[in-house]
Amino acid sequence: MTFAIAILAAGKGTRLKSKHPKVLHTVGGKPLLEHVIAAATRLVTPSDIYVIIGHEADRVRDAVAHTGVQYVVQTEQRGTGHAIQQLLPALLAGSTPRYDHLLVLSGDVPLIRPETVIRLRDFHLAERAAMTILTAVLADATGYGRVVRQAKDSAEVAAIVEHKALTPEQSSLNEINSGIYAFSIAPLQSHIAELKTANVHAEYYLTDMAALLVAAGERVVAIPAEDAEEILGANTLREMMLLDSAMRLRTAEKLMANGVTIFRPDTTTIDASVEVAADAVIEPFVQLLGNTRVGADTVIRSYSVLRNVVVGEGVLIRNSCVLEDATVASGAQIGPFAHLRPGSEIGENAHVGNFVETKKTRLGKGAKANHLAYLGDADVGENSNVGAGVITCNYDGVHKHPTTIGKSVFVGSDSTLVAPITIGDGAYIAAGSSITNDVPADALAVGRSRQITKPDWAKKRREASKT
Ligand code: UD1
Ligand code: MG
Repeated sequence: MTFAIAILAAGKGTRLKSKHPKVLHTVGGKPLLEHVIAAATRLVTPSDIYVIIGHEADRVRDAVAHTGVQYVVQTEQRGTGHAIQQLLPALLAGSTPRYDHLLVLSGDVPLIRPETVIRLRDFHLAERAAMTILTAVLADATGYGRVVRQAKDSAEVAAIVEHKALTPEQSSLNEINSGIYAFSIAPLQSHIAELKTANVHAEYYLTDMAALLVAAGERVVAIPAEDAEEILGANTLREMMLLDSAMRLRTAEKLMANGVTIFRPDTTTIDASVEVAADAVIEPFVQLLGNTRVGADTVIRSYSVLRNVVVGEGVLIRNSCVLEDATVASGAQIGPFAHLRPGSEIGENAHVGNFVETKKTRLGKGAKANHLAYLGDADVGENSNVGAGVITCNYDGVHKHPTTIGKSVFVGSDSTLVAPITIGDGAYIAAGSSITNDVPADALAVGRSRQITKPDWAKKRREASKT
């Protein structure tokens, strides 16, 4: 039995009132379509997945190009049935189908789990059906197509009726069509040309295949999803946000099941792609985004935001830090209020403290920059100490220049290091220095004017002002 998977993704998403194509709106940190493709690739290889694109086709194709799926362009979006009509030629070799069955997924139903699609597929095969519809019973079925069964407890379906076409008697039906189906390709191919546009939107509805196939003597059945949440569609931004919360909660629950402590998971924002090891602790209002990976025993305190950050084991990220495209090795301590910009590499047991900003900077093992520093395009050797208020002057208005600080260097507070510059191992920089020349190993560099102290000057001034 061979299966192809179609993913409907050509529509504009008019109800979102957005200029971006619906399937590129994100939930759980990834475009809707990417979630559906990820589920599909658990069943078949990408070369058997056909994404039907149309509205902003190039943007949609570019966004998911890395998945290696096939595309079919539906130039005019004339309905879900029309979309499958455009696809069918790609599934044929001459007039012979290259597959036995077609699974149809919807690009705007992102919570669907592969296990559920497998249940649909197996039920479809066991029932020897021409069409099998995945359904759910919803308390509020507003907006969805409803499934009309042939008899109350029958697996067999008579028709799908779209919300706007419901008769008053049908409006109480609460078993909805998920927009996810299995078809046997031969009967689908034989009858799909019979679809008509006699509906409020004057579109070819794929849903009408149910009644058409039944009229042709074919078997159409339905199977309810075990969890209705999985088949919720994202047609409005409100629905989009409900799905986003649901997906993030699902991610948090998976992490908790794997031994991660998440206080107040409802307040955290964790993308589906994030990995966290057991015994890590995530405090309220933390955001873990993109390809972030967090090691065991690491603690991330409230209001910190990590995007594409690899964090080792036993790290402490204190409150309100912002980290992006950075790595933090085991045992390091960050923050509070630290900003690690792209290309920051914080070594083992290193410390980056209050109001410190780093960019394209490597901090060696045990190095410290604890207060109010800017380190850009810098390499700081092992066990060096960067004092409060130190600035690497990495930019001359045109170009960026590197700063190299050796091992066990002491950079006194409020120093400016004018790059390009190299400070040798074990050197000392006196506080308040402007360093413009390289400093050899083990030297002391003082780059400031000498202090003048005038005894009794202030006292005399006060006395003079009294008279
Ligand atoms: C559809 C079903 C409805 C079901 C609901 C479940 C139809 C007619 N109705 O309604 O029974 O309850 O899904 O979520 O199918 N698309 C195309 N080309 C088109 C039109 C749509 O590719 O010409 C794509 C859209 O991008 C979307 C999917 O098909 O990903 C579903 O279209 P949408 O307009 O959201 O249909 P619903 O009104 O939600
Ligand atoms: Mg929809």
